[in-house]
Amino acid sequence: TSHPLALPVGTTLDRYIMNRQYAFAYATGELSQLLRDIALAGKIINREINRAGLIDLTGGMGVQNVQGESQQKLDVIADIRFSRALKNGGEVCAIISEEEEEIILTGNNNAKYVVAIDPLDGSTNIDVNVSIGTIFSIYRRVTPIGSEPTVEDFLQGGHEQVAAGYILYGSSTILVYTTGHSVNGFTYDASLGEFILSHADIRSPLDGTIYSCNDGNVDEYEEPVRKYLASCREKHHTARYIGSLVADFHRNLLKGGIYLYPPTAKNPDGKLRLLYECYPLAFIAERAGCRAVTHRESILDIKPRSLHQRSSLYMGAPAMVSDLLCLFP
Ligand code: AHG
Ligand code: MN
Ligand code: MN
Ligand code: MN
Repeated sequence: TSHPLALPVGTTLDRYIMNRQYAFAYATGELSQLLRDIALAGKIINREINRAGLIDLTGGMGVQNVQGESQQKLDVIADIRFSRALKNGGEVCAIISEEEEEIILTGNNNAKYVVAIDPLDGSTNIDVNVSIGTIFSIYRRVTPIGSEPTVEDFLQGGHEQVAAGYILYGSSTILVYTTGHSVNGFTYDASLGEFILSHADIRSPLDGTIYSCNDGNVDEYEEPVRKYLASCREKHHTARYIGSLVADFHRNLLKGGIYLYPPTAKNPDGKLRLLYECYPLAFIAERAGCRAVTHRESILDIKPRSLHQRSSLYMGAPAMVSDLLCLFP
């Protein structure tokens, strides 16, 4: 159902955010400002990505991050850009990032919000001009305003997110977010320097024919997942896997499909990180009519224990996720 104050396609993100601020609960304007800060950082990253091949921004840093992954230059640049935008914006008291082990204190101890971020998602695709992204998740802090924030502010659980979103730097750049109501997408118009509402009130198809997983790992998947994938092949479903979670998610959200990252020998708890990959996308997925689960429970119901905790992830059209879950004993 469209909201009485629904704004038309073509509205700028800034105007949209202001309008929502008056229409809904985030009345004091801090969350609005925070969303604008994220959009600004997104524009900067977009610029860096677009010219990465020209200014020596491709390739590795020659070091590993806390995840044991080899860090790419753009991983580091995106991390710095976002941290800086969120510090300078003033609405965030602490950040956690995929690229940093500990929580990052911004020094804004009077700020109300904390942000969990995957600054650059899909880093293996950076150097080959394939879609990459950014994922973010916003919470209201639970520690008292004025005090130093702690990990407790980040370990609230997926249902406590006040907003979540992603930016996909693809064939065009799009920012998709929700504050828990509708899910909306804003395509970047570089000539105007503005994100423009292009995908209002996204509703994902209830069923689909796309399945997305890393086929090279199939022999390691648990039996029910292998059975499910066999059924997809029997039905002549379409396999699509980019290897950038944001891009795989966005395609399946719009077209109808299922994304699978099961446990593997290398990552027995799953590969994807709960706080800045699974929770935010699960929050968006559910608001758009999809499901996001492990074989045991809903992603948003998982109790967080640590900042870089991993999870398996099955996410997408509700009919497909249900069919998969039926195969688990
Ligand atoms: P990141 O680039 O932020 O470290 O995330 C990598 C993730 C995700 O983007 C992608 O979907 C997945 O890893 C791909 O994993 P495989 O290469 O194992 O398929
Ligand atoms: Mn990484
Ligand atoms: Mn990622
Ligand atoms: Mn990343």
